[in-house]
Amino acid sequence: MADTGHIAVYPGSFDPIHNGHIDVAERAAKFFDKVIVAAYDLPKKRLLFDADRRMEMMAEALRHIPNVEVAKFSGLLVNYVASVGAMAIIRGLRVFSDFEFEFRMGLANKKLAPDIETISIMADERHIHISSSTIREIAELGGDVSTMVPGFVDRALVARFEELRALQPEPGYTISIRD
Ligand code: PNS
Repeated sequence: MADTGHIAVYPGSFDPIHNGHIDVAERAAKFFDKVIVAAYDLPKKRLLFDADRRMEMMAEALRHIPNVEVAKFSGLLVNYVASVGAMAIIRGLRVFSDFEFEFRMGLANKKLAPDIETISIMADERHIHISSSTIREIAELGGDVSTMVPGFVDRALVARFEELRALQPEPGYTISIRD
């Protein structure tokens, strides 16, 4: 097989992609030949955007990084990582409470696929408070998320909540859980 260089997968729900994700992707792209930022199609949480819409926004937000590709995946992450010939999983780490989940996921993935390494990149302090769930909650309540997401994601959030409000007038579409 031809040498395709060092590939990493940066997986997540990306519902929606935010500035913290973009920063982690930019930094990962500096030390891998290729980084595939991959949206898990059906995370066990209530989604605001479907996988194709999430991927569209990821592509737009990351198109300035030449060695980053976007994709979506189903099923076990380690199987996807192996299928694209990647050697590493990238995850961003923000606050201490992320650690337990990340540690458990890292250990489980290591058990399933011992040759695939998980690499955690510490969030930049400018982004430490940002999470997709916080962004969804603020945007749903009409708050300003313009410092947390690119402008087109901000507009997509407004449009999506307008769409949802037309279907269900009471607030409370999103549930606030970690991501
Ligand atoms: O952005 P998130 O929601 O923290 O990302 C979590 C994600 C999608 C990376 C994780 O749930 C995942 O890898 N799901 C795929 C299914 C899988 O492999 N589960 C076992 C991992 S412990």
